[in-house]
Amino acid sequence: MTRDSSNCILTILLLFFLLFISITNYFSFRNIELYLTSSTNSDPFDVVALYQQESIKQLRKNALLTAENDRKLLFNASRLTNNQDFYRKVVEEAYCAQKERIGEKGDGGKYVCNPKKFIIMPEFLTINFRLISLGLNNQIGFDKHIYEATGRQCKILGADIYQQEQPTRDAYEKMNGELFAAKIPNDLTIPQMMEKTGRIDVEFLKIDIEKGEFTALEPLIKDYFVCQIFIEIHGLPSDHLRMLQIIAKYGFRIFNVDENLLCPLCCEYSMINELCMAQFEVVPLAITIPQLNS
Ligand SMILES: *[C@@H]1O[C@H](CO)[C@@H](O)[C@H](O)[C@H]1NC(C)=O
Repeated sequence: MTRDSSNCILTILLLFFLLFISITNYFSFRNIELYLTSSTNSDPFDVVALYQQESIKQLRKNALLTAENDRKLLFNASRLTNNQDFYRKVVEEAYCAQKERIGEKGDGGKYVCNPKKFIIMPEFLTINFRLISLGLNNQIGFDKHIYEATGRQCKILGADIYQQEQPTRDAYEKMNGELFAAKIPNDLTIPQMMEKTGRIDVEFLKIDIEKGEFTALEPLIKDYFVCQIFIEIHGLPSDHLRMLQIIAKYGFRIFNVDENLLCPLCCEYSMINELCMAQFEVVPLAITIPQLNS
């Protein structure tokens, strides 16, 4: 082969390479644009309309008028030992019209706000978590439902102190989920778990880890962006209040309270980050959890 013809081949290859780069660039920019337009249109109008409904305005007004007293009543109930009385005094701080109970009947179900509004991120945007499910006990109806409800786009990270039975492991595998068997946070902290999988953004967090919540949760919501939390808190009223106050410190508001009839010392709370309220069409009411005295 002459020197000239090899130069010519190199030039042609280079041109093809440049052509290839510009075509792939074009398509990836187009995808980002499509993603941005499809996820932002329609929502803002809906939220404004929602806030202007007469019944919603009334709800907010009442909430503001009673909030101070609600906080005092709750604080007083937290000093006593009647759990049921405490749960009934927790007043919802955000209004979600589209609450859905997801998961097993009885123990294991959680109230989620408007799960359809879960934003499905294309893989190439990489900031890609989605559901963290802590405390499984071979009950993964919740995880499966969320997976289906999001068009099987949801990445799931699950953990439990015990290794799960084979059918549970198979089901997780099918959902492309990642499963950890470790005691959280003693053997494995949530941030360690997140680092292992390289995910940094959490749409839904389900946490039911038998008092592990008192040490495990705060580092997670401090360092990662979480939208909704479904938590079962265990213990006396004062323990419940302390946990709710810690979560509230990071901008989460309660939109559902559900007593666990099988466990008198346990209660399920559903909370939403203020920064996610518009996305899930939620109206903030008044803050009813007394602030933590630093
Ligand atoms: C809370 O308890 C204090 C002291 O026991 C009492 O003075 C106060 O009236 C109670 N507040 C409410 C709103 O019940």
